[in-house]
Amino acid sequence: MRATPDVVPPSARLVVLVSGGGSNLAALLAAHGNPAWGARVVGVVSDRAGAGGLEIARAAGVATAVVAPADFPDREAWDRGMTQAVDVFDPAWVVTAGFMRILGAPFLDRFAGRIINTHPALLPSFPGAHGVRDALAYGVAVTGCTVHLVDAGVDTGPIVAQRAVDVRPDDDEASLHERIKTVERELLVDVVGRVAREGLTVIGRRARLG
Ligand code: GRF
Repeated sequence: MRATPDVVPPSARLVVLVSGGGSNLAALLAAHGNPAWGARVVGVVSDRAGAGGLEIARAAGVATAVVAPADFPDREAWDRGMTQAVDVFDPAWVVTAGFMRILGAPFLDRFAGRIINTHPALLPSFPGAHGVRDALAYGVAVTGCTVHLVDAGVDTGPIVAQRAVDVRPDDDEASLHERIKTVERELLVDVVGRVAREGLTVIGRRARLG
């Protein structure tokens, strides 16, 4: 018997990069069973063999790959490895959801304008790996999450959508991050579906759906 042909439309093909638990990935996978959402996760790639997101992908029947820096002689070779591993899935869009490494030039060139990141703070405030901790330490009353395009900087690409989350007086990093993540997952699913259905137009720093 012949294999079932791949019926995922080219514009719907999504690859998700994860380093950690993968709750954002789980939210995307919960949405992708509905064809009306517009996107379909065709592959999940991680830099860590132990990333919880890989288990979530496997349980959903989605192909996975691990591209661990330790398996490559240097940073440039790892970048090329990541590019190839993602390219195999022929994605229209790449979503970095809790992916904790900077992607280098080969990757950014290959998927230019098609890489979407989610960040747990209201950019341009508090970029980097500790957005929640830094916002809390600064003493802000409102923080939130940002879905943005990835460029060569750290969380500096054009902003697609943001949502605010109030900081409570008794918040610590964990409690605040949990509340942000609830909002973040909803926003990411909404934005990724719209990007797949409507496309994304970028003029200068302004990214607009459709
Ligand atoms: C998210 O808040 C993401 O923005 C940040 O790390 C968290 C990842 O969560 N970079 P998960 O792995 O999707 O649960």
